[in-house]
Amino acid sequence: MEVIRHDVILVGGGGAGLRAAIAACEASPGISVGMVSKLYPMRSHTVSAEGGAAGVARDDDNMDLHIKDTLKGSDFLADQDAVETFVEAAPRELTQLEHWGCPWSREPDGRVAVRFFGGMSVKRTWYATDKTGFHMLHTLFQTSLKYDRIVRYDEYFATRLLMQDGVCRGIAAFDMRTGEVKCFLGKAVIMATGGGGRIFPFTTNAAVKTGDGMALAYRAGVGLKDMEFVQYHPTGLPGTGILITEAARGEGGHLKNRLGERFTVQYDYGLGDKAELGPRDMVSRAEMQEFEAGRGFEGPYGNYVHLDLRHLGEENIDKKIPFVRELARNYVGIDPVFEPIPVRPVVHYMMGGIDTDLDGATPVPGLYAAGETACVSINGANRLGSNSLPECLVFGKRAGDHAVQYVAGGASEGSEAELVDQARGEASRLEALRNKKGGERIAQIRRELNSTMEQGCGVYREEASMAATVDSVRQLKGRYADIGITDTSQIFNTEIVQAIELGNMIDIAEAVVMAALDRKESRGAHTRRDYPTRNDADWLKHSVVTFSADGPRLEYKPVTITRWQPEERKY
Ligand code: FUM
Repeated sequence: MEVIRHDVILVGGGGAGLRAAIAACEASPGISVGMVSKLYPMRSHTVSAEGGAAGVARDDDNMDLHIKDTLKGSDFLADQDAVETFVEAAPRELTQLEHWGCPWSREPDGRVAVRFFGGMSVKRTWYATDKTGFHMLHTLFQTSLKYDRIVRYDEYFATRLLMQDGVCRGIAAFDMRTGEVKCFLGKAVIMATGGGGRIFPFTTNAAVKTGDGMALAYRAGVGLKDMEFVQYHPTGLPGTGILITEAARGEGGHLKNRLGERFTVQYDYGLGDKAELGPRDMVSRAEMQEFEAGRGFEGPYGNYVHLDLRHLGEENIDKKIPFVRELARNYVGIDPVFEPIPVRPVVHYMMGGIDTDLDGATPVPGLYAAGETACVSINGANRLGSNSLPECLVFGKRAGDHAVQYVAGGASEGSEAELVDQARGEASRLEALRNKKGGERIAQIRRELNSTMEQGCGVYREEASMAATVDSVRQLKGRYADIGITDTSQIFNTEIVQAIELGNMIDIAEAVVMAALDRKESRGAHTRRDYPTRNDADWLKHSVVTFSADGPRLEYKPVTITRWQPEERKY
């Protein structure tokens, strides 16, 4: 078996992973980083982020205001020390990207332009038209090329963490081009693999977002925190789930029902004429209520409402949100200059993830996580739009820096023979999988998983459907043990990739629904019809699901409160 050694092994090549890799190289002139990514980094899901990245930039804004908005958006479940750390570092990170070449859009006077985003009191979202993720990813990637100490392993799928004496010391990953499993040894491992929105059928998430990093960390003993909180974005294109950015509403777009009414205004968030810029959980619920009241449109993919941009004018649309026009034309055949765009709530983001501290460190020594795969937590029960790109930067950097300190502090490499043995065990497992002749089909199990997750963990939830989803996910887990693989080839065997991804998805789906069923209140994106109000007395706490041989275990831990007492969430 080939054994590859680096000081730091990074899993994932998107925004958080690239930022961590650069930080590690800047922090130490001698460090070597192995970046293992399931796909070529420029195809990472960061590329599809559209609307922008939040960071205090103007005189009418300040750190306290951004912190307060984020905490309120989180329905007070975010850890306040984490939010303070995040808000304070975000403008620095965004400016750093400017210095590395990110083409932020500008105001006529030359300043970096900022726009409104949902739940933000002032304009604080930096943007590069509406292709912000694309430009950020390019900037980070080309900056990473400066360092020949970052060695890329593109199209390698990490399938197991190598552990010894409770310490993480590497990964086993297979080269998708050859099917060969390799042993990557490192003194620290950073997971930056993104979220797992693909456990749902209708999502903005790329097909690659199958919760891989979460599942690996979970099986290695790290808790998954706040998994019940899944964000629905109010404006996905029916059918495909393609995101129509919140920037469209930030620039003044209106949401309208079948009667032509700007319905969000009637839901009285306290935002008056800016009601379309409510936080995502509230706006998604408003859409669902319109559907239930029969005021939505009906189409081949179910109900939808209209996003009306016509009053913004062609010039403005082309200047500020050209990608919205391109997407609407290409995917629903509608030119928003002349017609409203059909939209509906769509799964967009997982607030939960691998339990980490402010440095991205997990409770397992040597293992770090950053970006959507991690839960620091700054997002609590509902993330504010445009906080996730800077989250990748701020906590990617912190994880990279801290991993270097951990390595410099004399992290031992463990017994190589034992670690290589573990990787060999993984190779045998994958070999057995490749030749598996069970009666169950991957696509069928995935379809059923998607469907039950939507039924149990939608915008609105209740006991009976969540309990049914817990049962279904457990049954699917049993059936997954009997899948059959028809493609036994070694080279780019995408059936094996999908089989592994499905195993990861089932594990994280179980954590989502188990935590959701237990939380008997409504908070942020977790809205229960049977427990419609927030209950701080009993539920102001983080859920943590940990792996055990007898099945997942659910525990809780306190939320860190520093200066802001939880209050009723009013806008
Ligand atoms: O709507 C958007 O552009 C999404 C941004 C985000 O999720 O932060």
